[in-house]
Amino acid sequence: MHSIDFLQAEIERELSELNLGTEPANLYEPMEYILRLGGKRMRPLFVLLGAELFGAPYTKALKAALGIELFHNFTLLHDDIMDKAPVRRGKPTVHEKWNQDIAILSGDALFVKAGELMMQVDDEVIKPVMQLFYKTATEVCEGQQYDMDFGRLNEISREDYLSMITLKTAVLPACCLATGAIIAQASPADCQRIYEFGKNIGIAFQIQDDLLDAYGDNQKFGKRPCGDIIEGKKTFLFSETCQLLQGKEHLDFLSLYNNQEMHAHEKTIQVLAIFDRLGISSLTYQAIQHYFHQGIEHLSHIKTAPQQVMELRMFCEKLLLREN
Ligand code: IPE
Ligand code: IPE
Ligand code: MG
Ligand code: MG
Ligand code: MG
Repeated sequence: MHSIDFLQAEIERELSELNLGTEPANLYEPMEYILRLGGKRMRPLFVLLGAELFGAPYTKALKAALGIELFHNFTLLHDDIMDKAPVRRGKPTVHEKWNQDIAILSGDALFVKAGELMMQVDDEVIKPVMQLFYKTATEVCEGQQYDMDFGRLNEISREDYLSMITLKTAVLPACCLATGAIIAQASPADCQRIYEFGKNIGIAFQIQDDLLDAYGDNQKFGKRPCGDIIEGKKTFLFSETCQLLQGKEHLDFLSLYNNQEMHAHEKTIQVLAIFDRLGISSLTYQAIQHYFHQGIEHLSHIKTAPQQVMELRMFCEKLLLREN
């Protein structure tokens, strides 16, 4: 079994050797650009760990790991257009640096290349791997559409928020771990356990992303500070605040948060003052812990490789305390 540091280095090496294409430059340069900006590479690592956890050499899962990282980067190119985000990983987004048409098309091409890489898994597992990949890709689109739809609603319920982030974010890490498990031909019960673990970690991960958007150090986080507040995104912090306010305070908060005309800086200051007064950041932190522990419960039933299970747990603990 390999250390996480080793597996991460292998992912970087494989990514740097990936030859996506060169002409037309306006298609391939943005693809290279987004991939070279780095990121945590958590999803490909999950694919490799899923494979090793159930006894397959990580090399059998490398192409699928890269495929899912390309898929993730495709979702970021399109998400940044939808969210009107100017900055990603500390650098201008593709639609800002080039333009929107280029970001759409280079995103599409990343999705195609992702599928090609996924198909390089062993013949005996190709069908379940591709089925899970395309099911997950559809769910991510569904989640993104809910995210967009919720932008037009004044308020959403906690259940709506949770099902939206499960689709847009959490099913992908779940898919990564389960893809590794499928490649290793783990039992269906183990594939399900690791999937559920990944889903809960993914929920906690998105809640942490919402927290960092408002409270993170934007140099480290690499995105526009308080972009979610400025855009009126329906985040965990928003939904927690709605639950705690009543009557006129509740209505005033809704009209502030959903106001798109207001000066961005002024809006941010006012919304953050309400979050601070209600202690929203510590409530959010508690929710992250809750989903982390719910995930660990599923992980505890996996008996194959105790050392690797422990490493995965420690990696996720650090991930959920991250600053970027
Ligand atoms: C960003 O994902 C999109 C979300 C689901 C919050 P990451 O935070 O994993 O982005 P990178 O790949 O590390 O930049
Ligand atoms: C993104 O959610 C989920 C996907 C990219 C599918 P966010 O919109 O919160 O992600 P960031 O904050 O832009 O990375
Ligand atoms: Mg978004
Ligand atoms: Mg976004
Ligand atoms: Mg976000």
